[in-house]
Amino acid sequence: MLITLWLRLGAFLGKTLLWLLGIGLLGWALSSAWFAWQHRGPVPDKEQVAPGEAAMTQDIIQTAIRIVDQHREGTRYLRDAHAKAHGCVMAEVQVQSGLPSPLRQGVFAEPGKTWQATIRLSNGNAYPQFDSLRDARGMAIKLLNVPGKQLLADRQSFGEQDFVMFNHPNFFVSDVAEYRQNVAAQADGKKAMAFFPSLDPRTWQIRHLFIALATLSPAPASPTQTTYFSVSPYKFGEANAKFRVAPDPDSCPSYTLPPQNQDLPNFLRSALNQQLSTDRMPACFVLQVQRQDPSKYMPIEDTSIEWQESDAPFETVARIKVPAQDFDTPKLNLACDNQSFNPWFGIEAHRPIGGINRLRKAVYEAVSDYRHRRNAEQ
Ligand code: HEM
Repeated sequence: MLITLWLRLGAFLGKTLLWLLGIGLLGWALSSAWFAWQHRGPVPDKEQVAPGEAAMTQDIIQTAIRIVDQHREGTRYLRDAHAKAHGCVMAEVQVQSGLPSPLRQGVFAEPGKTWQATIRLSNGNAYPQFDSLRDARGMAIKLLNVPGKQLLADRQSFGEQDFVMFNHPNFFVSDVAEYRQNVAAQADGKKAMAFFPSLDPRTWQIRHLFIALATLSPAPASPTQTTYFSVSPYKFGEANAKFRVAPDPDSCPSYTLPPQNQDLPNFLRSALNQQLSTDRMPACFVLQVQRQDPSKYMPIEDTSIEWQESDAPFETVARIKVPAQDFDTPKLNLACDNQSFNPWFGIEAHRPIGGINRLRKAVYEAVSDYRHRRNAEQ
């Protein structure tokens, strides 16, 4: 009798589990099909400016300045994002020889040419926190002595081309409106509201929450051992493209970084220091472009969408070599802190495009001016 009861209960539980599994799989298949239906090409190959973007941008600037003030804590005024540097290093960026003509655009027009560059490596957080905490890691490259008209009227004498990237391929918001809502909630300390702005489930941004969580990843062994993405798109001559910088150890002499003590707050700086200064070993990367194919789902106006490599491959346009050097000195570190990188510091051939980049134009300038002014007053 008891055995029959147990068998029946077992059968019932087994069937219930099977049903739940079936319903779960069906739900997953339906939502994947819905996502694919919503996110299919073709997409516009031109920018589409959303109504009200200028006013939202002003609002975001106020929030960004509020964040800079909140994070000051008696130190110098730091960046609103990517406040902590692992170091600024000198580098050489050599345009790939034998580039086919569609890839010879802007600063990549002359195969074999070598640009001198500065690279700032950073953690993403607005607080200079321990490197072992989950975070995005940034790489900002500035090519020097770039001829031609600069995008910003007041930067004409600088002759620069910046590439500002972090080590995740997509962003946790789609556009300016969502960024405004998200960052205001965070600045107010209401983190849950950043992705769940109201009780209405249609406003919930669960996919974007997962992107945010994935962006905050464990630290790499060294800033030279992770891949950085432009995330947002840029002009690439007449085409639209995203950039990526990936480690290229085969172009450098073989080197194995000794394990670092990851309990130390600044072990990413130590790793960089160990390789470039102590062991006198260079680091190598490739700089690649991924050109938009507008017949595929590769939108300009939604930075939460990763452009799939199966839709358009990354193509190498330059090789970056960071030679052995002593970058970690008080003088160079202060200069590093005082540098500004901005996707809009550059030439027309690589004009930043899309709402998030239009927003960055105003915000980077406002925050950079604010922290430089306040630091000069101290
Ligand atoms: C597309 C995605 C983005 C990427 C890949 C990115 C990456 C970076 C990196 C690497 C830095 C540090 C630059 C340096 O080393 O000096 C930085 C700084 C900064 N980012 Fe972003 N960012 C993105 C989006 C945004 C957005 C949407 C905003 C706000 C509207 C923003 C605001 C800032 C600010 C204010 C700074 C500091 C600028 C300064 O004071 O010099 N970023 N970003």
